[in-house]
Amino acid sequence: MALTDFDLVLFGGSGDLSMRKLLPAMYARDAANDLLAESRIICVGLEACSQQDFLRMVETNAKPHIKAAALTPQVWARFCARLVYVSLNATDAASYGALAAALRPDQALTRVYYLATPPQLFARICENLAANQLVTPGSRVVLEKPLGRDLASARRINAEVGKVFAESQIYRIDHYLGKETVQNLLALRFGNILFEPLWRREWISDVQITIAEKLGVGNRLGYYDASGALRDMLQNHLLQLLCIVAMEPPTSIAPDAVRDAKLQVLRSLKKFTPTTLVQDIVRGQYRAGHVDGVSVPGYRDEPDAPDRSRTETFVALKAEIDTWRWAGVPFYLRTGKRMADSLAEIVVRFKSIPSSIFAQPAAKSQANCLVIRLQPDEGLSMNLMAKTPGDGMHLKPAELELDFREQFSTPRMEAYERLLLDVLRGQLTLFMRGDELEAAWEWVAPILDHWENDHSTPQPYAAGSWGPAASGALLGRDGLHWREET
Ligand code: BG6
Repeated sequence: MALTDFDLVLFGGSGDLSMRKLLPAMYARDAANDLLAESRIICVGLEACSQQDFLRMVETNAKPHIKAAALTPQVWARFCARLVYVSLNATDAASYGALAAALRPDQALTRVYYLATPPQLFARICENLAANQLVTPGSRVVLEKPLGRDLASARRINAEVGKVFAESQIYRIDHYLGKETVQNLLALRFGNILFEPLWRREWISDVQITIAEKLGVGNRLGYYDASGALRDMLQNHLLQLLCIVAMEPPTSIAPDAVRDAKLQVLRSLKKFTPTTLVQDIVRGQYRAGHVDGVSVPGYRDEPDAPDRSRTETFVALKAEIDTWRWAGVPFYLRTGKRMADSLAEIVVRFKSIPSSIFAQPAAKSQANCLVIRLQPDEGLSMNLMAKTPGDGMHLKPAELELDFREQFSTPRMEAYERLLLDVLRGQLTLFMRGDELEAAWEWVAPILDHWENDHSTPQPYAAGSWGPAASGALLGRDGLHWREET
């Protein structure tokens, strides 16, 4: 569906995110004929750079991230014609004149300011946009992560941005919500009658949510060393997945219906105690090892890494949701860099059968298990016990498999394509509300404080493994194991 006319302003327009994700995503929508010919993308950066040099930069840095099938000389020329480079110092109100000149004055146009900048700049940019009368009633602002580094800074961002933009104009990005399979989870839970009666403590034994990456920290060490896995992944992506798995059925797909339901989950998460802070959380840091047979250095040996860095590259924890639906069901969350595999998945394990009518005892019957694979190959599998063919009555686990790529031939959208389209259409459902962001930080705050004040270091794990031994032990204590570690 074609969008109405817009001016999209990308602060950090020459930066890494813009080149790797945002511009390729906009190109893909251009190639799909979603954009009107007049719509423009204004890339804002600090460096002085001619329009020609900027286009060269886009050719070198963004073009390689565009799917080859979508690249045609006509669309490329059309796309480049929409790009305008504006150099300004985001902290200097006086330098916004160049941006004002590039924007079209028509108040009816959709105007979006996308802040792909460090969060310390959010407040100043909003202030300066307002001071230069660049915020129209229909303007929207998109905030890229990291959305703060603790509760206080997240509150500050909300308050400062809130002075200029109303909540209904603020789009806080968590790109996991733009992933096809995450939205499919909504379809699975609320488009089928099958799961809802079973989706509760009476039938579910535990839930595991994993986002594992083979990659190390790459060239982002400066950012990563000050953040760590808890801030970089768990506080946002994993908690958002947890919310979608655990939330009550919202009354509709409208933004506040969904966001109210997610907020309720965040507010019902059991608070950590001094005991559970020690027992239920594992933090790790990778040492040298092998990933796909290639030897890789340990975290502290990465270029520019501090020798004694205590930054965690792995975190696993046990969470509980204190509601009638979920009380007593452990939710195990885990994420790490330099792991044995790259995957994101949610595993919902059902309880065992109460007794067996077969010669095989009930304990030998594997519990039913629903695996929702977010990446790399999106799909669902449900494991069931089935009879092995032939004589006798021997049961073995078998799988019902739904492969989204095989099932639907429609072209997929990258997460950023979907999210940018939603921003341009004014659709807020897949974006976090301010109170959600604060509730997520509030829950992780005691972990951050505890790590800050205790003098322990993260537990080492070999690159290419599934994390420290303590991660397996976290589930082992409850008689369980991570799915990959059977
Ligand atoms: C980002 C994190 O938000 O998500 C990165 O900052 C991480 O550290 C990335 O690599 C993972 O996203 P995806 O979509 O590749 O799973």
